[in-house]
Amino acid sequence: MIKVKIPATSANIGAGFDSLGLALDLYNEVGLELSDSIDIASLDDVKVPCGSSNLIYQSFKYIYDLCDKPLPGLTVRQLNNIPMARGLGSSSACIVGGLVGANTLLGEPLGTDDLVNIAATMEGHPDNSTPALLGGLVTAVLENGKVYYVKQEISDHLQFVAFIPDFELKTSFARAALPKEIPHKDGVFNLSRAALMSVSLYSEKYENLRVAADDRLHQPYRLSLINGAHEVFDMAYKLGAYAAYISGAGSTLMAIVDKKNAAFVGETRKGLDRLGLCSWKLHSLSIDNRGARIEE
Ligand code: HSE
Repeated sequence: MIKVKIPATSANIGAGFDSLGLALDLYNEVGLELSDSIDIASLDDVKVPCGSSNLIYQSFKYIYDLCDKPLPGLTVRQLNNIPMARGLGSSSACIVGGLVGANTLLGEPLGTDDLVNIAATMEGHPDNSTPALLGGLVTAVLENGKVYYVKQEISDHLQFVAFIPDFELKTSFARAALPKEIPHKDGVFNLSRAALMSVSLYSEKYENLRVAADDRLHQPYRLSLINGAHEVFDMAYKLGAYAAYISGAGSTLMAIVDKKNAAFVGETRKGLDRLGLCSWKLHSLSIDNRGARIEE
């Protein structure tokens, strides 16, 4: 059995809706082996689809079909450390796990960019799947089935503190909350900030991050779906975060914090409890600059 390890991802990073994302050191692990039937099981207490609707199976089969190879069956063993429907890229991790696993078992007929294009097309946007495959900070555009991207490794001086609520937020629901049209000035507001976020993270101009994380495309419409979000953002900034934003479509909120700010996690834990958000989980994560890989 081969094992694929896939990082969690945090998309949008404020203003970069559907275009910016980064990979974090929280991993799903997927064991894969060819067999005569579909045999899918979770290795933890997370319930996963056990038939042909399983996303890992579907993306694995997509590659076999593309390469004209028969697939009588597949054994899948999933370890699901990335919480589902929380804006941390769990569905991209499944898609990427299946694609990388199939490509590996077939002797790598497809290149990295083929996998990047297929994963983003399956997901519908490139900002989770591309960093899940490549690691680091990714700036990406998906056009006509092709992803135009730049991946940049970013410094390990930052911690990404994930505030993970106890409720799910489906991406389709969070996308349905967005307006069909926005004023021209909101477009300018966002494009300037998305560009600033990408280049400031890369060049360590962390004093820019707070302004760069502001957004008028999705966060104003999604914040009301996450009870406590305003208070958590206020707390994060009071405790010295460089930036705070909704991770992907939510429900997770992410704070970008200097690793030297060692008190941040302990203080925010106390703050969450004071706010009555005792059931929210708190994870301090680091950038993963490597992306999905086969574990020996
Ligand atoms: N860019 C996507 C969205 C990410 O915000 O809907 C979903 O995880």
